[in-house]
Amino acid sequence: MIEIKNIHKQFGERVILDDITATMEAGKCNLIIGTSGSGKTVLTKCMVGLFEPDSGEILYDGVDMMKMEDEQRKLLRQQIGMLFQGTALFDSMTVEQNVTFPLDMFTKLSSSEKKKRVNEVLERVKLVDANARFPSEISGGMKKRVGIARAIVLNPKYLFCDEPNSGLDPQTSLVIDKLIQEITREFNTTTIVITHDMNSVMEIGDHIVYLHKGRKQWEGTNKDIIFSKDELLNNFIFASDFLQDAKQMRMMGHGK
Ligand SMILES: Nc1ncnc2c1ncn2[C@@H]1O[C@H](COP(=O)(O)OP(=O)(O)O)[C@@H](O)[C@H]1O
Ligand SMILES: [Mg+2]
Repeated sequence: MIEIKNIHKQFGERVILDDITATMEAGKCNLIIGTSGSGKTVLTKCMVGLFEPDSGEILYDGVDMMKMEDEQRKLLRQQIGMLFQGTALFDSMTVEQNVTFPLDMFTKLSSSEKKKRVNEVLERVKLVDANARFPSEISGGMKKRVGIARAIVLNPKYLFCDEPNSGLDPQTSLVIDKLIQEITREFNTTTIVITHDMNSVMEIGDHIVYLHKGRKQWEGTNKDIIFSKDELLNNFIFASDFLQDAKQMRMMGHGK
């Protein structure tokens, strides 16, 4: 579990994060949503230690990361898996080499142990017979799977996914979302997904934090969204007139 308490961050005079308090729960898909520029990435960078907030606390299972010793922070860093926006695979490396990379960096496993572990996670993301292929030779959905495999190869307690569906068609997006959800449940990871994909919000949004202009505007589950009266949230989620109408119908009890 990650607890964010009263996080404040500004760049110069500009307040980017204004007193944000939220909880990211273990075994759940915690979504951070909001329009572009609302502070999602800055908040995430604070959470993984790439930015230092001006004030507030970020507790990893009860321990404030800002107060950690270097050594403890380093250990924490190894418990964080990250699926980067755009996947960020190394183009000159094969699938297998990409997934092996964190093991080379952070473990002293033998090469046969590494191979075994890499095959385990590739199997887990249902990628078979792709070990020797290069990123340019596989589809967008497959690249995401490799990214996920690389993110989980060190058995992370915390899994961050920045826009996992960017560039994917709706059907493949759903498959990737489900995979992230399964992994979250199976390994009890505290998963944080940054997204503005409405389908993901409804499909995997166990816990949703909605940011608006650097403030937390709303927090709840995907089921709460259907009945929420928060106007900003509704305008964000149900952006089209069609969806606005559908939601109204549902709220008035005309929905099935
Ligand atoms: N390193 C930085 N220096 C100054 N301003 C920044 C920096 N990073 C982000 N910002 C600003 O912070 C705001 C929130 O950015 P960001 O968190 O990237 O938004 P989102 O991810 O929700 O689209 C934006 O107005 C952006 O211009
Ligand atoms: Mg962003």
